[in-house]
Amino acid sequence: MSDLPWTPDFDTWPVEHNATALAHTTDTLSVTWSDGASSQYHALLLRENSPDAGTIHPKAREMCTAPTDIAEGLAIESAQVQPNGAVQVMFTDGHTNAFHPGWLRGIAWFGEEEVPEPILWRGEDQPEPPSFDGPEALKNPQVFLLWLEALRDFGVARLRGLPQQDGLLEDIVTRIGPVRESNFGRQYTLEIKDDPDSQAFTSDMLLQHIDLPTRETPHGLQFLYTRDNTTTGGEGLYVDAYRVAEDMRTEEPEHFHSLVSDVWEYSNRARGSDYRGSGPVVETDAKGRITGVRYNTFLRAPLKAPVHVQARAYKAYRAFCARAQNPRYLMSFRYEPGDLLAFDNRRALHGRAGYEAKGGTRFIEGIYSDRDDLHSRIRSLKRQLRQEAKT
Ligand SMILES: [Fe+2]
Repeated sequence: MSDLPWTPDFDTWPVEHNATALAHTTDTLSVTWSDGASSQYHALLLRENSPDAGTIHPKAREMCTAPTDIAEGLAIESAQVQPNGAVQVMFTDGHTNAFHPGWLRGIAWFGEEEVPEPILWRGEDQPEPPSFDGPEALKNPQVFLLWLEALRDFGVARLRGLPQQDGLLEDIVTRIGPVRESNFGRQYTLEIKDDPDSQAFTSDMLLQHIDLPTRETPHGLQFLYTRDNTTTGGEGLYVDAYRVAEDMRTEEPEHFHSLVSDVWEYSNRARGSDYRGSGPVVETDAKGRITGVRYNTFLRAPLKAPVHVQARAYKAYRAFCARAQNPRYLMSFRYEPGDLLAFDNRRALHGRAGYEAKGGTRFIEGIYSDRDDLHSRIRSLKRQLRQEAKT
């Protein structure tokens, strides 16, 4: 309904259920919904999210009330469902506010929500990245969204058939979010350099790794746009490090314990910079879920640790390295002109078969950005598509 109250955000809140009954104590509002569900809201949550200009900035939609601006012991005096379906609440500090029923329902606690789990893969089952038609994705936001969701879920996803165009890579990446620069610049070209500051700039085989483990938080996403490739060899070698780690959790628990707890330091070896980052190979959250990996065999600094820790950490690193090279886990494919490969740099290990540099050309551009930008764009694109569907 168009006359419903505004909400403290810019999201769409479809009204799929109506509030049919209200009850309250001094500090809690209970709402019963038309599908029989019920939800509860603390008075302080409602009060600080009240859609009035003194509480939420009507343009920025950010809170402009500090917790100390709200009376201690604030209580709910009364509550009623209005004819338009909004839920009106009167507070003891004199404020009366009406809340959007779609918003109230959407922010309610109905128990632990299922967080979308990453889709783990081994190369033997998933030999190629999920792939989408590039020109179509650039025209059609629904296809663009499918590409982004595949990147989120699989940690690797490809656009194919893109034209060869200066600036196209940055144009596509900035449709998602800002570029995150690095000591390799805003954009880099994978080419052979006479004095390389990374083995990436040679034609040698490259063992699977993440880039920039030398940063406090390594870059979350990497995009490789192949503009030309007539060389022999040089296939991309990708591994789902989450799959490797989960397999080690069950099959090699002692090594897994080292991977999540022993801290390695990484240092870049450039002449003009000295970046250092440290962390365990496998990062986990408070619930033990894997949230990232910091794995790169060729940028490890000497492990400063008691020798018994060195012993177990080296064994575990070797075991991880062996799995990462195992053909069961490897996704191996050729970079074809017009491909734009996106991958989660903190999940999908990437490597390269060596290639014959003579008699062919190889021109691949790369850019980094971060995971947050991907998640934000997925949410905002979905919101945009919902709004378009409504009109
Ligand atoms: Fe790399």
